[in-house]
Amino acid sequence: MEERYNELINIINEADYNYHTLDKPTITDQEYDSLLRELFDLEEKHPELVREDSPTHRAGGQILAGFNKITHKIPMLSLSDVFNYDEIRLFDERIKKENIKPQYVCEQKIDGLSVSLIYENGILKSGATRGNGTIGEDITTNVKTIKTIPLKINEPIDIEVRGEIYMSKKTFNKINQERIKNNQEPYLNTRNLAAGSIRQLDSKVAASRKLDSFIYHLPNPEDYGLATHYEALEYMKKLGFKTNPNNKIFDNIEDLIDYIEYEKELRPSLEYDIDGLVIKLNNIQDQFKMGYTAKYPRWATAYKFPAETVLTKLKDITFTVGRTGQITPNAVLDPVIVAGSKISRATLHNIGYIEDKDLRIGDIVSIHKAGDVIPEVVAPIIDRRTGQETRVKMITNCPICNSELKQTASKIDYFCPNDNCPARNIEGLIHFVSREAMNIEGLGEAIIEDFYNLGFIKNFIDIYNLKNHQEDLIELEGFGTKSVTNLLSSIEESKKRSLEHLLMGLGIKGIGEKTAKILAQKYRNIDNLINVTYNDLISIKDIGDILAKNICDYFKSQENLKLIADLKHLGINMNTIMEEQKENEYFTNKKFVITGTLSKIKRNELKKIIESYNGDVSESVSSKTDVVIVGESPGSKYDKALKLNIEIWNDEKINEILSELQK
Ligand code: IVH
Repeated sequence: MEERYNELINIINEADYNYHTLDKPTITDQEYDSLLRELFDLEEKHPELVREDSPTHRAGGQILAGFNKITHKIPMLSLSDVFNYDEIRLFDERIKKENIKPQYVCEQKIDGLSVSLIYENGILKSGATRGNGTIGEDITTNVKTIKTIPLKINEPIDIEVRGEIYMSKKTFNKINQERIKNNQEPYLNTRNLAAGSIRQLDSKVAASRKLDSFIYHLPNPEDYGLATHYEALEYMKKLGFKTNPNNKIFDNIEDLIDYIEYEKELRPSLEYDIDGLVIKLNNIQDQFKMGYTAKYPRWATAYKFPAETVLTKLKDITFTVGRTGQITPNAVLDPVIVAGSKISRATLHNIGYIEDKDLRIGDIVSIHKAGDVIPEVVAPIIDRRTGQETRVKMITNCPICNSELKQTASKIDYFCPNDNCPARNIEGLIHFVSREAMNIEGLGEAIIEDFYNLGFIKNFIDIYNLKNHQEDLIELEGFGTKSVTNLLSSIEESKKRSLEHLLMGLGIKGIGEKTAKILAQKYRNIDNLINVTYNDLISIKDIGDILAKNICDYFKSQENLKLIADLKHLGINMNTIMEEQKENEYFTNKKFVITGTLSKIKRNELKKIIESYNGDVSESVSSKTDVVIVGESPGSKYDKALKLNIEIWNDEKINEILSELQK
């Protein structure tokens, strides 16, 4: 019986592979159904037999309470974008500058969501979304419902592969027709529906959505003895994954660009949506040579197809006031769907922009949007004018506080000069509590506006005095003891934030996350910054003339100094918590593994020291490891280091380095 059970699994898994991955059915639907029924019956009678790779798991049925988090061992990066052929040529030049003779693989950029699949001993163990790149969600149960994702691969190995989960256009249309029939709003695009389906808590629903997959990335090809990306694609195909048949190799960037033209023509006839093409360096050693930025590999890029353009009506132009007082005109549009998202507003930047394009209220305008890029009003359609359209004039007074507007020195923008303008203050408060700044949870935009209008919060200091109004807050609609307690504790917690967050929050003109970090890293506490001179600032690599002046002006103002003193008095941290970043020839930018017992220092302590010099310490030895530090009775890591010919430092060497650092 066990034999029959194993046989059934093999036959059905193979039939699934032939039908879904190869698109070459080998048995009839009836035969398939009867085999599957036999398997279900056997499992019901003998639950002890159930194997992890049984195709019965593909039917779904499990209902989850939520999704667990999964930490990606290797971060899931995104790709840099290019939008035209010249940018592709620049990408090619950057590679050639490194003395690489490039060969590229060109792949379709599937419009779905990326997934990481982990196999142990050849059996699918987990599937995870990309999440923020470091931590994703565990979607294993739903992943198992995707017929082109093998539950068992053709070799009993440990491997992680990555690819895209998508929905075919056909399935998408079928689901939407059904929804329209039932008077439900249709889904926007295949990507949104695929993403929504994979996050279904009821895996039966996920199974019914008939998702599909393409696998396109092997994180560590060198561990499998592969020298090129194309070999990795072939290897993954051999293991049983569905890879894209359109992947193609090019030795020359101009040939690749010609091929893009061909792909553009192919696009409408494809069974799935693509939003561009991905260009990857084929040779893995070349990939190493190019390396990575914090967000993207430098060895690959995504060419995005030109933006989609649609027409809609410009119903109105309204003006909003930003945190710094800047007035921005906004287009109010008849809602339309462009590149898969609903657009009803778009920024018009400044009055000059409106005049240059001669935009008039009532115009039919073309708008475009490419992928995640912000939608843009391109131009009015002059032929569609009826004569009823009206021109807009720049407003002369603030739409919120009615102060007379002033022009900026550049004469392009207008701003509200009133420091007490409610719109400016509210925007400033929203900025202060935002995640990048003081990270206060429970003070969303609408709540800040309410609290401002109710008089609870007029400035930053008031936020920290909210605890004196606890009773009043609990009485407010939508609030209760619990939400108020949570809010107040988040406010207290924010007092511990590091200097860079406070600098962000203060809203000093021109200071974004990056500059705030640079300043906090260098000056370490607010008093050092208050005393900084223009010349000090301008000598910093990323700080230019205007920013340096803004910073000096900010710390010259008595009002701002009083604000800082008051915040300090309330217990808000004014120091940098980030470790001071030091550099040395031994540790900086190198990857270490420590094994065995060291005579003078604990492993943990050494790890901290290495990290303080921007070195990296990881648990396992791979070809990416630069140095293995070996103490007494080392484990198998030492053997692996020898095998991979990795530099080894012994106890003596590490003691020498440490004593040198103490000098
Ligand atoms: S490679 C380190 N190849 O595009 C390389 N990505 O904009 C990682 N995508 O997050 C990605 N088709 O979800 C790669 N053939 C393809 C792709 C592809 C679609 C998606 C993927 C990624 C996003 C980046």
